[in-house]
Amino acid sequence: MSLLEIRNLRIEFDTAKGPFRALDGVDYTVDAGEVLAIVGESGSGKSVAMLATMGLLPDSATITADKMDFEGKDLRTLSTRARRKVIGKDISMIFQEPIASLNPCFTVGFQLGETLKTHTSLRGRQVKDRVIELLTSVGIPDPEGRIDAFPHQMSGGQCQRVMIAMAIACAPKLLIADEPTTALDVTIQKQILDLLVQLQQDSGMGLIMITHDMGVVAETADRVIVQYKGRKMEEADVLSLFESPQNPYTQALLSALPENATGNRLPTVSDFAEAGGF
Ligand SMILES: Nc1ncnc2c1ncn2[C@@H]1O[C@H](COP(=O)(O)OP(=O)(O)OP(=O)(O)O)[C@@H](O)[C@H]1O
Ligand SMILES: [Mg+2]
Repeated sequence: MSLLEIRNLRIEFDTAKGPFRALDGVDYTVDAGEVLAIVGESGSGKSVAMLATMGLLPDSATITADKMDFEGKDLRTLSTRARRKVIGKDISMIFQEPIASLNPCFTVGFQLGETLKTHTSLRGRQVKDRVIELLTSVGIPDPEGRIDAFPHQMSGGQCQRVMIAMAIACAPKLLIADEPTTALDVTIQKQILDLLVQLQQDSGMGLIMITHDMGVVAETADRVIVQYKGRKMEEADVLSLFESPQNPYTQALLSALPENATGNRLPTVSDFAEAGGF
């Protein structure tokens, strides 16, 4: 049994211009201990798919699926109470915009503490100790001093680390990381990726890494799903994908990597559409 198994996920938004299909029948499965990367250009439906899994899309979204199971339990039929136990505890997400996801009015220590109090039996001094332990584990310098810092008093990289600490606070079985390093400079990116992979390996959790960066895929993933315009173009283990990409869109993504540069004009999506790629 997979940790997460989603079949034929469709998402449609009700917009002023009429219905908009953001995701068109995509399957996702992740096992415990596995890293699945979801790649694809902006707007390809990476975030909405995972937000739907977390139950975080607005009412304007119509979500349908043939299956949406976590540990064999149907996420769609869980009661609100049961769902709250799973979402945020067993399945946790690092959101695409870390600074916007932290509340500017509360200290990072308070926000981490609230997560712990909601999902664990820790109280009082135990909460504070665990917060310090978490901040230490994500590499925040002087964690005892930083516990009373507000998000605006921390750098982008530190806020990202706090978000990671919050996401792993309750030892999730599945962590969804939505572009966890996009807003960061290259050296911090590497540190955060290494940290995530380390945490994943130490805990044996499943990890879904959403990214548009094939370098991140190569470095972290076991298996890859390539999306374009709400559809799955290709799914393969990471070595096969890099060695023999089957879909023209995947080939285009890989040929856009600097190390594969030929000096010629980079192919565009329309080149592949004309060639009948999709
Ligand atoms: N609340 C919403 N209402 C209407 N359309 C939406 C809404 N949220 C997302 N969309 C649309 O759904 C499509 C998929 O969006 P999504 O955020 O999943 O893209 P993405 O692949 O995560 O892109 P990025 O790499 O830029 O984060 C986009 O066309 C987006 O405009
Ligand atoms: Mg996104």
